[in-house]
Formats: sequence, structure tokens, C-alpha cells
Amino acid sequence: MSAPRVPPSGRFVSFEGIDGAGKSSHLDAVAERWRQRGLDVVRTREPGGTPLAESLRELVLHQSMDPLTEALLIFAARRDHLQQCIEPALARGAVVLCDRFTDATFAYQGAGRGFDPAVLTTLEAWVQHGPHGLRQPDLTLWFDLDPAVAAQRVVAARAPDRFEQQDEAFFRRVRDGYRARFETQPRRFARIDAAQSRDQVAVQIAAVLAERGW
Ligand code: TYD
Repeated sequence: MSAPRVPPSGRFVSFEGIDGAGKSSHLDAVAERWRQRGLDVVRTREPGGTPLAESLRELVLHQSMDPLTEALLIFAARRDHLQQCIEPALARGAVVLCDRFTDATFAYQGAGRGFDPAVLTTLEAWVQHGPHGLRQPDLTLWFDLDPAVAAQRVVAARAPDRFEQQDEAFFRRVRDGYRARFETQPRRFARIDAAQSRDQVAVQIAAVLAERGW
């Protein structure tokens, strides 16, 4: 009798941190390295990653709205992103590298804006529940950085969106929000000290991936 066919299952890695922590350039570097190894790599982001979710991203980043509307739009974008992009990619065995996922919602909308985390937990369950249970990243790299340092990097970089315009106190709360997620789900998270040089951060990431045999 032949062995049962096990469906291929990919790997889902999210990159998180306050604005200015430097996650996106490291995400590009990991994507490039894994592509060179011949892996099927999907590089995506939240809010966004599909035409519908990118439209919602424009609204969330540039229009003022109340916190519930903001949270609902972000989760609506996430639902479409999961169904159209992430789940099909994981099902065919691809590696999905996602610039932010639900931890950002708990950090920004929950801790940053003060929105009820119980409602976010309910939305998370509705949106991320599928045939394999609650979809979460297999690994979340949390780029942890002092908000004062991050703010200097953001000012130098570009015209700020609605979140980047927030004051340092907001980003202190967001950082605390990430820390709380990190502490409750330590196996999924790896903390990266983003205050270090770019090269040293790359070494930290390589060590985390190597620990998992990736
Ligand atoms: P960001 O990764 O910073 O994009 P870019 O580097 O192109 O500016 O994401 C955009 C913003 O969206 C960021 O300020 C955080 C915010 N955001 C939330 O508030 N909640 C969420 O759930 C997500 C995914 C992002």
C-alpha cells in the first residue's frame, strides 16, 4: 500500500516592528537568499498583498476614520489576502514572507489606539480560521527598537502616513503591544535587536533561521 499523500505545506514568516525599525530591507534580503536556493518565495505585505487589499490599504493609511472602521478594514484586507494569496501559496509549498500581519493590529490598533483587544481577538478568529485551524505565521521576526531612534529614521526617509505621524508616546504603546504578543507566544516569535548595525541585524536573523534549520 502506498503512503498517504501529504499535501505540501509551505512556511509563513512575518516581519514586525514599529515604523523605522528597518524590517523591510531585511525581508528583501531573506527573500533574495531563499530564491537563490531555488525556493518558491512570495513576498507580500499587510495591509495589502491583493488588488482589493491594496485599495483598502490606501484608505487606512490616508483617510481619517474611527478605530472600529480602521480595524474592520484591516481585517477585511487580511481576509482577502489570506484567501487569494497566502493560503494558495502555502498550499503549493511556497515560502510566504509577509511585511506585517495580525501582531501589527494588536500592537497598532490595540495597544497604540487603545482599541478593545477582545474585539480584535474575535475578528482574528473569524478572519484567520480555516481548515487547518487558526492561521498564524510559523515564525514572526520582531524588530525591536527604541521609538526615539525609529522616529529619526522615519523623518529621514519619506512623507509620513497616518501612523508614521503619531507621536513617540503612541509608538511606545505599540512597542509594548508587540512585547506583550512576544511574551504570550514566545515559540512563534524571535526578537531582533534592531538598534544594532544593519550587518549585525542580518547576522541575528541568519541565526534565528539556522536554529530552525531554514
Ligand atoms: P508599513 O509596513 O510601515 O509600510 P511602509 O514601510 O511602506 O510605510 O505599514 C504601513 C502602516 O500600517 C504602518 O504604519 C502600520 C500600519 N498597520 C496597522 O496599523 N495595523 C495593521 O494591522 C497593519 C498590518 C499595519
